[in-house]
Amino acid sequence: MSSNNQVFPVIWNDRSPTDTLSGHVLLIDQTRLPNEYGVVEINRYDDMARAIETMIVRGAPAIGVAAAYGVFLGARDIQTSDRGEFLAQLEPIAQRLRATRPTAVNLFWAIDRMVKTAHQTLGPVDYLKQTLLDTAKAINADDVQTCHLIGDYGLQALPASPEKLRILTHCNAGALATAGYGTALGVVRSAWREGRLERVYADETRPRLQGAKLTAWECVHEGIPVTVITDNMAAHCMQRGMIDAVVVGADRIAANGDAANKIGTYSVALVAKAHNIPFFVAAPLSTIDFAIADGSQIPIEERDPGEVHTVGETLLCPVGAEFYNPAFDVTPAALINAIITEYGAIAPADLKDQLASKQAV
Ligand code: MRU
Repeated sequence: MSSNNQVFPVIWNDRSPTDTLSGHVLLIDQTRLPNEYGVVEINRYDDMARAIETMIVRGAPAIGVAAAYGVFLGARDIQTSDRGEFLAQLEPIAQRLRATRPTAVNLFWAIDRMVKTAHQTLGPVDYLKQTLLDTAKAINADDVQTCHLIGDYGLQALPASPEKLRILTHCNAGALATAGYGTALGVVRSAWREGRLERVYADETRPRLQGAKLTAWECVHEGIPVTVITDNMAAHCMQRGMIDAVVVGADRIAANGDAANKIGTYSVALVAKAHNIPFFVAAPLSTIDFAIADGSQIPIEERDPGEVHTVGETLLCPVGAEFYNPAFDVTPAALINAIITEYGAIAPADLKDQLASKQAV
């Protein structure tokens, strides 16, 4: 999962060199980080669906890659040689995986690509299965490549001064949230590599603490200087001149550039605007949903209230209180300086003109 200091949260592991279909998927268990590094072996599509629901694997591109392998794992277990029957049995598998999390559009993009590939591939069922595995592997490898391009374009989009930047990020849009390298943290990694980074400020990101647990873990793992702050400290840090740019990821971006990301991102964007600090969203083309005109139509996942009222074994709130736990919010395009994609840094208003034609699945 980790070679040359690089982190890959989802990998295909061939069980046998002669039987290429018999392998399994290995996931880094992100629920156990940073205290324990553990790997979960996934052999069946319903185990992959549960791993996505329980956030063993999380982050928009990473769950897309995981779901693509999930479609293959389900397809592998279909016991028929009849192509029509095989395609019919593939549909409930895809449906189960689609139902895992509603906001990140990469999940639906990857599943749709897998299903479409199955329908467009002619030949015996075993050949369809091999083609599905090859497609999942391609989605996986392409995402790593894409993140490196996002990192390099992001580096060009960052402010020219000061020479060494202090970058604030929210949640985890790192290697763990993608197939490797990261989107927002990919920009940070590229800046670090080129000597343009002084330090990362990582919002802790209540309620699940992806910033404190995962972003900080990735930075420490690689020797990138990181300061964790609680979410309510970001405005203070900006007011004190401690932040030069904000870079975050996204789970779904509407055609007008409104961007859904982890809850709390919107307030960071508002404060950045108030302090004239550039605010960037880093995301691949697969995160853009051109079928949705604006952010009001993005479905927002609501998660278990226990994530708000309890930390570990400790109840934080009095019994009798009520709780609300939206997992994402929408940052309006007007607050975003640029969306950094594998095709370059693009103003939100130009997204549709510049990228819609490139998104043929
Ligand atoms: O609920 P999560 O942890 O899956 O949410 C992840 C985020 O909001 C990330 O910031 C986003 O997916 C971008 S990942 C490159």
